[in-house]
Amino acid sequence: MDFIDEKIEDYAYRHTSEESALLKSLEEETYDKLEIPHMTTGRVEAKLLKLLARMAGARRILEVGTFGGYSALSMAEALPEDGILMTCDIDPVAIAFAKKYFSQSEHGKKITLLEGPALESLKNIAGPFDMAFIDADKENYSNYYEAILPLIRPGGLIAVDNVLWSGRVLDPQDPADRAIHEFNERVVQDQRVESVLLTVRDGLNCIVKNH
Ligand SMILES: C[S@@+](CC[C@H](N)C(=O)[O-])C[C@H]1O[C@@H](n2cnc3c(N)ncnc32)[C@H](O)[C@@H]1O
Repeated sequence: MDFIDEKIEDYAYRHTSEESALLKSLEEETYDKLEIPHMTTGRVEAKLLKLLARMAGARRILEVGTFGGYSALSMAEALPEDGILMTCDIDPVAIAFAKKYFSQSEHGKKITLLEGPALESLKNIAGPFDMAFIDADKENYSNYYEAILPLIRPGGLIAVDNVLWSGRVLDPQDPADRAIHEFNERVVQDQRVESVLLTVRDGLNCIVKNH
């Protein structure tokens, strides 16, 4: 993910509001203890997700890809006291790690962690949701999108991470490269939605469901 100038990334980081102390220690421990820690969204992207949730007045959020819980906890901070965030993951190590942090947070009570393959979990979830965040296995991006779109209220948002895939979408070589490029093509041609692909971090596709 070094296709954006490092100094510009750093400047953006330093001029984005600080995360909570708990999120800071969650991120530090993620880099200490979890494999592939750079999968975590981190300050700039998770703050963007939080602000989008605030602006949408979100009360119900769905996430695919919990990992250490950074993005889930950040979005949960934007929810009202009775708000709900459902997040799916398959990795028992990441699940145990995220649960530990959710239990330490005043916002943890809003979060339900659904364990197992996300496509299975999604079959048992009832909408409507105001917002969703897709950030798991890339080969399933289009499947997640098609499963989640019916669960989103009209005017609701689906944000999808890593849609630039370190630039590999320009010349797709392997199945993940192709899956992400095909997903972006699907979205931009989809009359059910309006979208903008932001060049934030590794690319964030922001998709609003039409009324
Ligand atoms: C990029 S990480 C998520 C990062 C997280 N949103 C954050 O901000 O820290 C992707 C996660 O998707 C999970 N995952 C991969 N395949 C999955 C599947 N089929 N079902 C559910 N989760 C899956 C992985 O275990 C991993 O924790």
